[in-house]
Amino acid sequence: MLLSDTVNLVIENGVGVIWVNNPPVNALSHSVRAGILAGLEQANTNSDISAIVIGCDGNTFIAGADIKEFGEAPKEPHLPDVLHAIRNSAKPVTAALHGTVLGGGFELALSCHYRVAITGTKVGLPEVKLGLIPGASGTQLLPRYVGVETALSMITSGKMVSTASLPDLIDMQVDDDRAGQNNSPFPEHEHLVNHASIIFAKRTANDAFVPPDKRDISGSFDEDTFDSWRKKLAKKAKGQLAPQSAIDAIEAATQLPFNEALALERTLFVACRDSEQSRAMRYAFFAEKHAASGYAKSTCDVHIRSVAVIGAGTMGTGIAIAFANSGYSVTLVENSEEMCVSGLERIRHQYQKMHDQGRMSEAQKDQALSLISGTSDYGNLADIDLVVEAAFEKMSVKKMIFSSLDAVCKPSAIFATNTSYLDIDEIATSTTRPEQVIGMHFFSPANVMKLVEVVKARSTSEQAVSAVMQTAKRMGKVPVCVGVGFGFVGNRMYAAYGREANMLLLEGASPEQIDSAMESWGMAMGPLAVNDMSGIDIAYKARREYPPIYDDPAYFLAADTMVEHGRLGRKTGVGFYRYENGKKTNDPTAMALIAIEAERLGIEARKVSDEQIQNRLVLALVNEGANLLEKGIARNSEDIDTIWLNGYGFPRFRGGPMYYAKASGINNTIEGIKYLYRETNKNWWLPSEKLETI
Ligand code: 3HC
Repeated sequence: MLLSDTVNLVIENGVGVIWVNNPPVNALSHSVRAGILAGLEQANTNSDISAIVIGCDGNTFIAGADIKEFGEAPKEPHLPDVLHAIRNSAKPVTAALHGTVLGGGFELALSCHYRVAITGTKVGLPEVKLGLIPGASGTQLLPRYVGVETALSMITSGKMVSTASLPDLIDMQVDDDRAGQNNSPFPEHEHLVNHASIIFAKRTANDAFVPPDKRDISGSFDEDTFDSWRKKLAKKAKGQLAPQSAIDAIEAATQLPFNEALALERTLFVACRDSEQSRAMRYAFFAEKHAASGYAKSTCDVHIRSVAVIGAGTMGTGIAIAFANSGYSVTLVENSEEMCVSGLERIRHQYQKMHDQGRMSEAQKDQALSLISGTSDYGNLADIDLVVEAAFEKMSVKKMIFSSLDAVCKPSAIFATNTSYLDIDEIATSTTRPEQVIGMHFFSPANVMKLVEVVKARSTSEQAVSAVMQTAKRMGKVPVCVGVGFGFVGNRMYAAYGREANMLLLEGASPEQIDSAMESWGMAMGPLAVNDMSGIDIAYKARREYPPIYDDPAYFLAADTMVEHGRLGRKTGVGFYRYENGKKTNDPTAMALIAIEAERLGIEARKVSDEQIQNRLVLALVNEGANLLEKGIARNSEDIDTIWLNGYGFPRFRGGPMYYAKASGINNTIEGIKYLYRETNKNWWLPSEKLETI
C-alpha cells in the first residue's frame, strides 16, 4: 500500500513492513516522515498485523534528516512527532539496519523497540559536523543504550561506529560473510536484513517490551564527567557551539524527566540550526560534494586498478599507503634496489605504528602490506594503470622520469605528478601522451590529509581528469579539480596569507601574537608555527628558483631573514620560535632580527590588534582566491573553500574563506581590501575584479 511518494506498507507473515525508498541515502524528507507516520497509524489499527518493521531499499538505512530541507520552512509532521509515535506504538517496532545509519536515521532506530543489524552496519550521530546537535531524541536515547561516556564520545565527535562494537544496542546481528570484500557495497544487503527482521519481529511480537525512553541510563558518571568533557572540547573543538550544546543536552538526560530533557534538546537543536556556524558547515558539506560531482562516471571508461608511485620519500611513501589502504595494488619505484628496500621498510614501520596505535587491525595491516611491492626497474611498469610521480621538485628530473615512463608504460596509462609548483604542461611535453598527463597534488601526510588537488593542464583530456577524480574519491579523498598556475590554488593562496603574516612581523606583531590571533579565530595552527614545522627554507628555495610573483623588498623578508641566520624552524631548533626537547617557546631573538630589517626598510613598529591580524590574513586569502577565479585556475568559490577546509585547517564553522567573505557582506570585504590597497600601496592588494561575484 502506497503511503507517500517514498514509503510503502506491505504485510508479510503478519508483520507490517514500512518500506522506505528515497534514493540516494533514504534521507528523512517530508514525504518519508509523512509516510512512516501514516504506516504506523495503519499498522496499529490493522488486526492482521502483530508487529512492525521499518526497513529501507538501496545501499543504506536512513542516513539522516534531509539536509536540503534545513533552509526551508519546516513542514509537518516534524521528525520528533514521528519518533514519538514510534516510541509509543502499541505494537513493537523493529528497525532493520544496514549501511550507514546516521543522524535522524539513527534517532529513528533508537526510538524503535528493537534493532536488527547486518554485518558491516555503521551508526552515528554526525550532527556536530554540520554545526548541529541531534535534534530528535539522540542525546536522550543513546546514553540509555550505550552509557554516558560512549554517548558523549559518539555525539561530540560525530564519528561512525560499527554496530558490532555496540552489543547493548543491537537485539539481533545478521551475519553476511561477504562483508568487506573489495570495499564494494553489499549486494542485496537490504533484503537479507529485512527478511531477518520480519522473522525476528514475528517471533517477539507478543513479548513484553520497554519503550526506549523508559530505559535507565547506564554506566558510571558524575558532575565531573560533564565538566571535564566541556574543558576538553573547549580546546579540541574551539570556538564551536554544537559540541558544548550536545554536552548540555546529554547532561539533561541524566537530570531531568525524559520529556523535559527532550524539550531542552529541541531548543538547543533549533538554536544550533539557526546559527551562522551551522549554515557555514552545511554549505561546506554540499561544497565538498559539488567539488567532485561534476565528473560523472559515464564520461570515464578508464579503470584504475594498479598504481606505481615514483619516489620513496615522505610524500611517495604516504601516497603509496593511501592507495594500498583503499585496496589498490602499488609498486613503489626508486633509483636503486637499496633505496627501494629502505622505502618499503619505512612503509612497514608506518603500518606497524598505525597498528600499535589501534588505528588498524593486524589483518588490515597485513592485507595493505601485501598490496605494496618495490622495483628499481621501469620495465616492470608496463601494465600499470596510473603512475604518480613524487620525486625531487626539479623540472629536468621530472621530464626525465616522464619520458622514461612513456617508453615503457602501456598507451592507456595515466601519468600524474605530485608537484606543488611546476608547470605540468611543460612536464607533459616530455611524453607522447600529453592528454594523459595530469597533476595529483597530495597534502602531507598523504595517507591522512583528505585533500587532493587534481590539476588539469591545458593538454589534459576530460577523460583523464574524470578517471583521476574518481580514483581519488574511491580512496576516500576530497578531490578538487584546479588549473595550472604557480602553486595551483591552495599554495598560491597560502602564499598570500603567509605574505601578510610576514608583513605584520615587520610592522611589529610578534610570531606568538599572529599565531594565537589566527588560532583563536579558528585556524588549526598559526601560520608561523606551521612554517617552523614544515621548514622555512623550503619556500625560501622555491622563491629563489622561480621568478618572484611580486618584486618587493618586504616580500617574505621576515622568513628570508630567519633562513639567512640558519633559523630553519623545528629541524634546527630555532625559527620564528625556539624548540627545546620538542617544546615550543617564544624567542625574542627572532623579533630582534626582523626589527633590524624593518628599520632598514623604514617600516615603523606599531601596535597591531588581534582583529587587524585576522582581518588582514583572511582578506589576503579572499583577494587571492578571487584572482584565481578571474584567471580560471579555480572553477568556483565552493572549490576554493573545499581546498581550504580539507588541506589547510580552515575552521569548518566559518565555511571557507570565500563563504566567510560573502557571509560577512561582500561589500564590507571589498571595502576592507580597497582600504588595505590605499594604506599599503602594495600591488598585491589591488582588488580583484571578480570579488563582486565570488
Ligand atoms: N540529506 C540530503 N542529501 C544527502 C544527505 C542528507 N542527510 N546525505 C547524503 N546526501 C546526498 C549527497 O549530497 C549526495 O548527493 P549527490 O549524489 O546529488 O551529490 C548523495 O546523497 C550521496 O552522498 P555521498 O556522495 O556522500 O555518498 P557516500 O556513499 O559517499 O556517503 C553518507 C553516504 C555516509 C550517508 C554521506 O553522504 C553522509 O555522511 N551524509 C550526511 C549524513 C548526515 O550528516 N546525517 C545527519 C543529518 S542532520 C540530522 O539528521 C538532524 C537530526 O538530528 C534531526
